[in-house]
Amino acid sequence: MSEANEEDFVMAFQDSCDKPALLLIHGFPLSSQMWEPQLEDLADFVRVVAPDLRGYGGSDSVPGPYSITLLADDCADLLGHLNVATPFVVCGLSMGGYIALEFYRRYPEQVAGLILASTRAGADSVEGQAGRDKAAELAKTEGATAVSAGMLPKMLAEHNFETDDELVDYVKEIMSTASLNGVVGALAAMRDRIDSTPMLGDIDVPVLIIHGADDQLIPVSEAEAMHNAIPDSELVIIPDAGHLPNLEQPDLFNDAVIDFLEELLEEEEEA
Ligand code: MLT
Repeated sequence: MSEANEEDFVMAFQDSCDKPALLLIHGFPLSSQMWEPQLEDLADFVRVVAPDLRGYGGSDSVPGPYSITLLADDCADLLGHLNVATPFVVCGLSMGGYIALEFYRRYPEQVAGLILASTRAGADSVEGQAGRDKAAELAKTEGATAVSAGMLPKMLAEHNFETDDELVDYVKEIMSTASLNGVVGALAAMRDRIDSTPMLGDIDVPVLIIHGADDQLIPVSEAEAMHNAIPDSELVIIPDAGHLPNLEQPDLFNDAVIDFLEELLEEEEEA
């Protein structure tokens, strides 16, 4: 784990080596620790950079307001600070996917390809926004862990939640590192994020969409809708996986990512 001193907070991150880069952006309310199987397996192919977003993991617990734009800029600042060669591949899971789409919107010239895992392109509905406010209130009155405790059973496929105690404990442990600032800030950022659907048809880099077949938080139909709207996209549905296919089925997830990266690198060499 390393630390980069940005202007107003210390951001922690994991970084594997000096090769074409892959940025891994974690979901809510997790940290770069969720990418452990990817940091282990993908580092042979690419330089993996996995930041802890502000308020999460080893990064400082900075007070809000947060926005998806700010979180995307934090990632851009970190990669700039590390002198990562551009363009690189940006991968985000769930909230990380919202940030990946925003990253593309803001810095398209830096992006060689996108991996959108367990995510959706649309904005929150009015009911969804009210749910974010309720969750933020709960975090303020009962602590950040009250929010994660409510989410935990939905993070994995039902079967995995019921049978894989080790994985459940691992996810719980990661969630326990989320700070109150991080949880409240990210809830507001997600509540106010813009609808990325109108941008999908204009994405002109290859996109890999990965989704767990049994995701209880974001239905597979959201992944299918993105696949239908993004011209150069591929959809991989991971069986026996819920919202965290990278942890529930790491080999299948990593194989899909490696195939995508190999194709992309081949295309770049030919160009
Ligand atoms: C996540 O896993 O990042 C969140 O569930 C996304 C969301 O709540 O919209």
